[in-house]
Amino acid sequence: MTDTTLYDRLGGEEAIGAVVTEFYDRVLADERLEPYFEDTDMSQQRAHQTRFLSSVTGGPIQYDGDDMGTAHEGMGISHADYDAIAAHLDDALGEFDVADADRKAVLEAVESYREAIVETT
Ligand code: HEM
Repeated sequence: MTDTTLYDRLGGEEAIGAVVTEFYDRVLADERLEPYFEDTDMSQQRAHQTRFLSSVTGGPIQYDGDDMGTAHEGMGISHADYDAIAAHLDDALGEFDVADADRKAVLEAVESYREAIVETT
C-alpha cells in the first residue's frame, strides 16, 4: 500500500494538464467526437477537465464547474461516445510515464460518472 494519492502519482496538476492537452488533441482528431466540441472554448475546457481530473484523483483542487449530469445534459451522448472518449483518455495517459495500475485507476474514477454523462443507448 502507498499513502500517496493517485493525483500525486500522476505528477500533480501540471502533469495532469499535459495529459488533458494530449487527450483533447486526440478527441478533436476523432470525427465521431469532434462535432460535440464545435462551439466549445477548448482552452476553458482543458482547464475545467484538468481541475475535474485533479479533484477526482484526490488532489487538493476544488472543481467548481457543472456537475457531470448538468454539463452533458441534452447532448444525447451514447455509451459508444463515452467508450470512445475513455479510450482517448487511456491512450493519452499511455503517452506519459504512468503506471498501468494508475492508468486503470483514472479510468475507473471517471467510469463512475458514465451514467450521469450518457443519455442514449
Ligand atoms: C470520461 C468521461 C467524461 C468526463 C470526465 C467529462 C468531463 C467534462 C467536464 C469536466 C466538463 C466541463 C464542465 C463545465 O465546464 O462546467 C465537460 C464538458 C463537456 N463535455 Fe465532457 N466529459 C466526459 C465525457 C464526454 C463525452 C463522451 C462527450 C461527448 C462525446 C463530452 C462532451 C462534452 C462537451 C461538449 C462539454 C461542454 C463544453 C462546453 O461548455 O462547450 N464529454 N466534460
